[in-house]
Amino acid sequence: MTHNDKNPVGHNRESRLFYQSRSRRPLIDRAKGVYMWDVDGKRHIDASSGAMVSNIGHSDPRVIAAMNAQLEKASFAYRLHFENDAAETLAWRLSERAPGDLERVFFVSGGSEAVESCIKLARQYALAKGQSQRTKVISRFPSYHGATLGALALTGYTPMHAPFAPMMVDQPKIPAPTCYLDRDDLSDHDRGIKYANMLEAEIIKQGPETVLGFIMEPVGGAATGALVAPDSYYGRI
Ligand SMILES: Cc1ncc(COP(=O)(O)O)c(C=O)c1O
Repeated sequence: MTHNDKNPVGHNRESRLFYQSRSRRPLIDRAKGVYMWDVDGKRHIDASSGAMVSNIGHSDPRVIAAMNAQLEKASFAYRLHFENDAAETLAWRLSERAPGDLERVFFVSGGSEAVESCIKLARQYALAKGQSQRTKVISRFPSYHGATLGALALTGYTPMHAPFAPMMVDQPKIPAPTCYLDRDDLSDHDRGIKYANMLEAEIIKQGPETVLGFIMEPVGGAATGALVAPDSYYGRI
């Protein structure tokens, strides 16, 4: 690695990262629990941790100990060639907490990849059932399901979606249940049903035999600011 005058180490050097904001942010030195300290010693409260990433706080000693113990044994074992105890144990623990007969787990690296994997799994299921005409995944507008091309096709957010639209398969959208914006005389319960019925109408419009699935955020994330529908919505969906 080389250094030059324009590029001193520390928080004064120019950023060479893509998609990094031009206005500089505090350079983080260390973090513990809910707090983060920058290199100037200023303490910050990490209230949201991006999209809720550090759920149990930073630098939890139990996590560090478990990571160290695993890394000292083995850092990688590819699933097509080996089994590993850590993945099997976590899969068991997750499936025991999952409802009904959800007994299988597929680990991925993040949300977009999870969404893509779900679509592919649904497609493989349709093919196995002899239903190759099922290709459409209905989602809501606005919504956020990720930024990779497959997940982006489901994301209902025009500024992000538009530049890539010609490169993606157009997937049907129904309105997100933003009942709080509605100026009608319906009760909360009836508004929930009204929005849920839009899914049925869209399935019929698309041709039920072509629909592979429907994806939604039960509690809205980035695109809808923690939007929750009336209870009636979820039952009807
Ligand atoms: C509901 C939902 N799906 C998918 C994603 C994409 O996750 P990632 O950024 O890990 O790819 C997010 C991220 O905020 C999300 O909130």
